[in-house]
Amino acid sequence: MGKEFSITPKTVPHVETKYRRIGTPLPHPDSVATLEKLRQFEPISMRGQPPLVWERAEDIFVYDKYGNRWLDWSSGVLVTNAGHAAPEICQAILDQVNSRLLHSYVFPNEERAELVETLAGVAPEGLKKVFLLTTGSEATECAIKLCRSHGIKVGGKKKIGIVGFERGFHGRTLGSQQAGGMAGQKSWIVNEDPAIVTAPFPDGYWQTDTSFDTFLTTIEQRGLKPENVAGVLMETYQGVGPDFAPVEYVRRMAEWCGQHDVVLVFDEVQAGFGRTGKFWAFEHYGVTPDVICCGKGISSSLPLSAVIGREQIMDQFPPGSMTSTHTGNPVCCAAAMASVRKIIKDDLTGNAARLEKPLLDGLKRIQAKHPQVIGHVTARGLVGGLQTVKRGKKEPDHDLAHSIIERCFHKGLLFFAPVGAWGQTVKISPPLTIPIEAMEEGLEVLNEATDEAVNALT
Ligand SMILES: Cc1ncc(COP(=O)(O)O)c(C=O)c1O
Repeated sequence: MGKEFSITPKTVPHVETKYRRIGTPLPHPDSVATLEKLRQFEPISMRGQPPLVWERAEDIFVYDKYGNRWLDWSSGVLVTNAGHAAPEICQAILDQVNSRLLHSYVFPNEERAELVETLAGVAPEGLKKVFLLTTGSEATECAIKLCRSHGIKVGGKKKIGIVGFERGFHGRTLGSQQAGGMAGQKSWIVNEDPAIVTAPFPDGYWQTDTSFDTFLTTIEQRGLKPENVAGVLMETYQGVGPDFAPVEYVRRMAEWCGQHDVVLVFDEVQAGFGRTGKFWAFEHYGVTPDVICCGKGISSSLPLSAVIGREQIMDQFPPGSMTSTHTGNPVCCAAAMASVRKIIKDDLTGNAARLEKPLLDGLKRIQAKHPQVIGHVTARGLVGGLQTVKRGKKEPDHDLAHSIIERCFHKGLLFFAPVGAWGQTVKISPPLTIPIEAMEEGLEVLNEATDEAVNALT
C-alpha cells in the first residue's frame, strides 16, 4: 500500500464520448513541472493520487488545462455530493464574499444561526444541538471528548473507554486515528491509549463472525468492562468496503449502549447527506445514535464539519470552553446551506437510491468475470467498492487495485487511489448528480480496465 502513480508522460489511446475526453499523453508533459514542485515541497505522504493537475471541476467532471475531461468517480474523496462547483453553491459563496463577512470567530453571525437550525431540522428527534468545526477529524475528536466527559459524569473517572472498530477510519488527528482501526495494521500508527480499543467490524467478508456477542467478548478481552466504556464510535458504513454491519448487530449494540450509559456515536463524515440513498446512513439500521459526526458532503465544497447530538451530551461545557477559531466560518456556512438545500430540492438522495441497483449489478458482472481476483463487491446508494485479492486466495491485492485505477485514469474515469486496510479497494463515489447513462458508461470503463489489469497479471 502507498504506491505512487508514475509521473512520466505516457501515450494513451484517444477517448471522445459524451462524458470523457482524453487527447494527450498522461500526465500532460506541461503539467509535470507542477507535479515535481509538489514532490519537492510537500511531504511524501501527500503523493499517491493519479497525476492529474486539476484546472477546474464542474458537476460530474474534472478538467485539466489541456482539453482533457474525466468523469469523476471520486467526488474529491466523497465531498461533492451536490456536484462540483454547483451554481447555487458558487453563488452563495460569492454573495457571502460580497457581503464582506468572511470571518467572525465565535461572535454570532446569521449564516451560522441559519445552518445550525437547518442541521438540527434534518437530524433525528432528540439530536438538536449542533457544534460546527472545520474537518471530519475534528468532529470525531470532539465526539471522543464528549463521550469521555459524559462517561466521567455518569460513571466516575474509570468510565473513559472508547470502542472503535478494526479497519475503521475517523481521521488523522491523534485521538481520531487511535479510535480508528488501522492502528494494528500499520507500524507508524501506534495506539498507546489502553482505554481506546477496537472490536472486529462485522463486514461479513474479512470478518465472517458477525454476531454482537463477539463485540462483547472482544472488548472484555481488551480490558474494558461495560461500566468502563464511555462511548462507541462507529462509521455508519465502514469506508474501506464500503461495508454495512448487520442491522441486528447495530440494534443490539444500540440497546447495549442504552443499558450501560454508553454514548453511541455514528461517524457520518462520508456517509451522510444522501450518499447511501438515505439522508443519513444510520436510517438503514433503524437506530438513532446519541451523536452524529458530519463533514465532507455537508458543504459539497468548502471545509466544514459538525457534531450533532443530544442536549445533555453537547451541553457539558461552560461558555467559551468548546469552540474553535474557525467554528462555523460564514462563507463555509453559506456553502453548506446551499448544498443542503440542493441535495433536498433536487432529491439527490433519491437519485443515489435509484442508482444503487445499476451500480451493484455492474460491479457483480465484473466480479462474475473475474471471481478469482475480485473477492468482494458492495454498493449502497452511490458508494460502492470492488476489492481485489490474490488469485484464488482471500489475500488483498493492492497492486491490482492500483493498476485498475491507473488504467481508468488513462481512459478518462477518475478514482482516488485505492483505499482499504491493505489498499485493496477500488472505491466508487461519484457526485450524487450523476445520470444513469454516465453511471453505465463508467461501469463499462471499469469493466474494460479490470479485464486489462487482470490479463496483465498472467
Ligand atoms: C468516516 C470518516 N471520518 C472522518 C474522516 C476525517 O475527515 P477529514 O479528512 O475531513 O479530517 C474521514 C475522511 O476520510 C472519514 O471518511
